[in-house]
Amino acid sequence: MSHDGKLLIIGATGRMGAALVRRYQQSRKVLAWGRAELNLLDLKSIQQKLESIEFQTVIYAAGITNVDYCEEHEAEALCTNHDAPRVLAEICAKNNAKLIYVSTDYVFDGKIIEPLGEDSPTAPLSVYGRSKLAGERTVLSASPDFLVIRISWLFGPDRPSFPDMILHRAMTSDHVEAISDKVSCPTYSEDLAEWIEPMLDDSRYSGLLHLCNSNPTSWQDYGQATLDIATKLGIPLKATIVKGISRINFPDFKAKRPEFTSFDTSKYQQLSGNTPRPWQEALEEYLSKKYLS
Ligand SMILES: NC(=O)c1ccc[n+]([C@@H]2O[C@H](COP(=O)([O-])OP(=O)(O)OC[C@H]3O[C@@H](n4cnc5c(N)ncnc54)[C@H](OP(=O)(O)O)[C@@H]3O)[C@@H](O)[C@H]2O)c1
Repeated sequence: MSHDGKLLIIGATGRMGAALVRRYQQSRKVLAWGRAELNLLDLKSIQQKLESIEFQTVIYAAGITNVDYCEEHEAEALCTNHDAPRVLAEICAKNNAKLIYVSTDYVFDGKIIEPLGEDSPTAPLSVYGRSKLAGERTVLSASPDFLVIRISWLFGPDRPSFPDMILHRAMTSDHVEAISDKVSCPTYSEDLAEWIEPMLDDSRYSGLLHLCNSNPTSWQDYGQATLDIATKLGIPLKATIVKGISRINFPDFKAKRPEFTSFDTSKYQQLSGNTPRPWQEALEEYLSKKYLS
């Protein structure tokens, strides 16, 4: 197969995939595939579809991301987060194409209360985490050139996430609460697209890589910052305080969640010479663009 520099993004309709497509199509040829173009549960169709196109790099930003849904739909989670990437990895390795697989902080058990490096021991607590870890391993074993990027707490304009949910609640109710004993780092999809862009053509980026905005936080403080920014922007709120509650008092959760999964991003910083900006700055940019324009 000959390559003409094309980038294939799988999961192009998702929160992350849509941000990647928007940025990269300004400067390169991008094939953007959502579920309509490729059903990842049909493994044979992956082979067939990829045989019909030319590509140099593939970003697998697809996944079943609903952690509780995964707990009750293990086969679907495994197929999307492991089996489909395995087929893809084999095809990419055969065709000398680079594969970038997007993974998660849920591969950790959250018991180590210090920033987690790429070498920190994994111990997923849920079907989602186990299926993503299996996906990571299958991708990395297919070629030393492939890249697995772990991210955490993604937010951005293409699909609602935690800040949108908290803001909606504060606009419609005078009572807002969020979990205080779970810590990680939010990641802005637009920043992520910018950080990943140089990796597409740079072979130094391979193996595991942790990426997120700077500064660990709890859901409660993340929610409080959202309401503080909204107040500053003049968005009318019924509630301005986020009350803290413990994870243990959240009976609705079906899957276990890790308590502490803040990433150490020094590998990325050394390779890129770039320090991710604080999530607070990224969040303010996101909310300003969304609610003031
Ligand atoms: N969101 C987070 O906070 C977070 C945190 C850590 C890691 N991650 C990882 O980051 C990646 C991107 O997350 P995201 O938030 O952008 O996810 P998302 O918004 O849920 O998007 C997932 C994408 O995968 C597609 N997809 C799922 N099942 C499919 C199937 N059977 N066939 C074809 N397409 C399918 C979805 O298509 P539809 O639109 O048709 O459903 C969508 O395009 C995922 O790998 C996730 O595990 C996310």
